[in-house]
Amino acid sequence: MMKKHILITGGAGFIGSHVVRLMVNRYPEYEIVNLDLLTYAGNLGNLTDIANAPNYQFVRADIADAVQVNELFDRFAFDGVIHLAAESHVDRSIEDPLSFVRTNVIGTVNLLNACRDQWAGQMEGKRFYHISTDEVYGTLGSEGLFMETTAYDPNSPYSASKASSDHFVRAYGETYGLPHVVTNCSNNYGPQQFPEKLIPLFIHNIKEEKALPVYGDGMYTRDWLYVIDHARAIDKVYHEGLNGETYNIGGFNEWKNIDLIRLLCGIMDEKLGRVTGHSEKLITYVKDRPGHDRRYAIDASKIKSELGWEPSVTFEEGLAETVEWYLENSEWLKNVTSGEYQQYYDQMYGSR
Ligand code: NAD
Ligand code: TYD
Repeated sequence: MMKKHILITGGAGFIGSHVVRLMVNRYPEYEIVNLDLLTYAGNLGNLTDIANAPNYQFVRADIADAVQVNELFDRFAFDGVIHLAAESHVDRSIEDPLSFVRTNVIGTVNLLNACRDQWAGQMEGKRFYHISTDEVYGTLGSEGLFMETTAYDPNSPYSASKASSDHFVRAYGETYGLPHVVTNCSNNYGPQQFPEKLIPLFIHNIKEEKALPVYGDGMYTRDWLYVIDHARAIDKVYHEGLNGETYNIGGFNEWKNIDLIRLLCGIMDEKLGRVTGHSEKLITYVKDRPGHDRRYAIDASKIKSELGWEPSVTFEEGLAETVEWYLENSEWLKNVTSGEYQQYYDQMYGSR
């Protein structure tokens, strides 16, 4: 039987690296290609444990460059694409929206074009799986949940670029018959997340006794999911999801930022042997993020009832493991913040 070739984009990033690890370990019969540009957010140090696996290879390329994407598709006959590569941080999108259009919109369309052309006349058994975010739905008031049928209403350049890419994926399904599936997931947390996002940034700052910058009144709500549970959901949807469907993925786990931050301070005080209440003193209210969405919360009942997925880890367990990981991997944190992993890449791969 022919081996299946799967392309995973953004596999050196936070969620992508957990997906690559799961797929490489679980499916020795697949050939898995990880395409990543290795921007500030991509780090091959996330994947040293599987770097030499016989069913895995890494290719450095830019999805926004059609020539590079097409060359890759000429080299490999992919059966499926799991697309995670993106610019992913809201605050950066406010500073530089065009880089989000370039990677998230143009990059996605380049991949769609390559799949459409490579799979022309033989779409059977092929699949383009687009990983998206709940932020495309905009903001909730104090009541209600995002459903798969909720109208798109993005408020940040990041969520607007992700919404646009979701629409392109669906349009390629309608127009060219491209087999596709889309998931929209809530906020992830866990090991190997770049310390610009709330949880790793605050773990880092608490450890270093630096101020904890809380945006606005701190009463913004997010629905947190452990990254490994997201990777499990992605595996499930890739293999069992229905073509043309959207599935919302969430943690059934809403937290107001300030309550989460207090919980984190308490865990850190305990782990670092500090007196209770010590780290809370670092909380500093700062100017709000422009266009800040008040509340995100996912109704994940469809993926639960149709595909049998639900989170396996409680927030208390996941957060404790996450804190533990960052405390045990201070070198990782130092490397990503100093850009040393770029040197690691040069050492490993030369100028390729
Ligand atoms: P991340 O920023 O940690 O990783 C993104 C990866 O994409 C990096 O490895 C980066 O090098 C790579 N990349 C960026 N631009 C590229 C380009 N032009 N060509 C090739 N590779 C490029 O992001 P993440 O948090 O792991 O998110 C992964 C995906 O999941 C994104 O599509 C994001 O929108 C989505 N998502 C994230 C969350 C979350 O909470 N982090 C929640 C829901 C959905
Ligand atoms: P973030 O991790 O950036 O995820 P997103 O904006 O995609 O939800 O932020 C999570 C929440 O924490 C969001 O309401 C913004 C807030 N926040 C702060 O209050 N201070 C910070 O320094 C950061 C990074 C985020």
